[in-house]
Amino acid sequence: MCGLGYVGLPVAVAFARQFDVIGFDVDGRRIESLRRGEDWNGEVESCVLSASTMRFTDRAEVLSECNFFVVAVPTPVDKKCSPDFSLLVRACQTIGPVLRAGSIVVFESTVHPGATEEICAPELEKASGLRCGIDFKLGYSPERINPGDREHPLNKIVKIVSGQDAEALEIIADVYGQIIDAGVHRAASIKVAEAAKVLENTQRDINIALMNEMSKICDLVGISTSEVLKAAGTKWNFLRFTPGLVGGHCIGVDPYYLTSKAQELGYHPEVILAGRRINDGMADHVASRLVQLLARNHRLSPVARVGVLGMTFKENVSDIRNSKAVELCRALERFGLAPIAFDPIADKAQMEREYGISLLSKASLTKLDLLVLAVPHRQIMDCIWSDLPHMINDDGVVCDLMSALDRNRLKSGLQYWAL
Ligand SMILES: NC(=O)c1ccc[n+]([C@@H]2O[C@H](COP(=O)([O-])OP(=O)(O)OC[C@H]3O[C@@H](n4cnc5c(N)ncnc54)[C@H](O)[C@@H]3O)[C@@H](O)[C@H]2O)c1
Repeated sequence: MCGLGYVGLPVAVAFARQFDVIGFDVDGRRIESLRRGEDWNGEVESCVLSASTMRFTDRAEVLSECNFFVVAVPTPVDKKCSPDFSLLVRACQTIGPVLRAGSIVVFESTVHPGATEEICAPELEKASGLRCGIDFKLGYSPERINPGDREHPLNKIVKIVSGQDAEALEIIADVYGQIIDAGVHRAASIKVAEAAKVLENTQRDINIALMNEMSKICDLVGISTSEVLKAAGTKWNFLRFTPGLVGGHCIGVDPYYLTSKAQELGYHPEVILAGRRINDGMADHVASRLVQLLARNHRLSPVARVGVLGMTFKENVSDIRNSKAVELCRALERFGLAPIAFDPIADKAQMEREYGISLLSKASLTKLDLLVLAVPHRQIMDCIWSDLPHMINDDGVVCDLMSALDRNRLKSGLQYWAL
């Protein structure tokens, strides 16, 4: 297994129940902590990790024992939102030298249709001196796990598998079939499997963008989006999406892999990029609406007390990468405000290092003029009703970004605003 992050580690642990698995990661700190039985992402429990037979290493040469490789390294975008394949290429350069005849390499990283054969295959050939499709074979099996979601573990989600020919497909389907109780779906080709994954996330992105746009319209009309969604949701074929900030490294990133490939082929996607623009603009939109509300309350001043609850990219996950709650804080700062950030599960030191934001204790959230419930982690929601009276002024503004609160329970005098 190459890459032991949110995706790679659970997959590797599942494989290790059936096979002899070597878990490789370039991050020595990650390897040390996994050896101690600690997954800092919180996806695999310590007892499960400690009981696993998997061997962990950051030495690539150890992989020479393997003949079936699974690659789950990050595929981010750069500052211009162009796909960054450098980590995938590096993983191929690592695996290439230890590849032997008969090996199979399966990629799980999200990419555009064509990337595995166009980018990974030549790199593997160059680094191994072997021929792809003859000496070694390729496969692609996109990952669908949803970090923080205990109801949909790896083994309960149908896994798409694909191979570069019928023989590779059968081997890959057989190997994955042993760890996935829900079964495997044999995609018609590697490109089909790649496209299916990127479509799944693009579809979510666009549907959320539609809800975000609807929430802006509802706000102008003066009605509650969640009431509208409740009413519309009574129709049998209404799709259940809600407005919100789209952060993280999947939904907000993967569509760019699709759009950049489309553009390379001479097609300029309109719907997909419009969805991206809307979702990427939401933190600024929310900040300017909150500033309007503070101004109307005569509380807009540099000493206004603003608290933000939840700073990770989504609820019940400690991952702070591409967190839109951070963007929201930045946008509020541009208006001269100084938000106090609180998150019970984000890593304080990492938050300081990555964003220069100090996470303060819950006790510092008092006498707030504006409380933003940005990311409703379970740990926040469990005591929100007893915490609220200490946190916010009687005439303060409560921004419930994800409509996680029952607004009817709020004390009269408080102003409520949600997307
Ligand atoms: N996190 C998700 O929810 C999710 C879901 C489905 C698909 N994906 C896709 O899966 C891929 C991996 O995502 P992730 O969230 O697991 O990333 P991650 O950042 O959590 O983990 C990646 C791991 O790979 C390691 N790594 C980086 N370069 C490496 C290399 N050259 N060789 C070996 N290890 C290397 C890193 O040190 C890290 O531990 C991405 O393409 C992502 O889009 C992610």
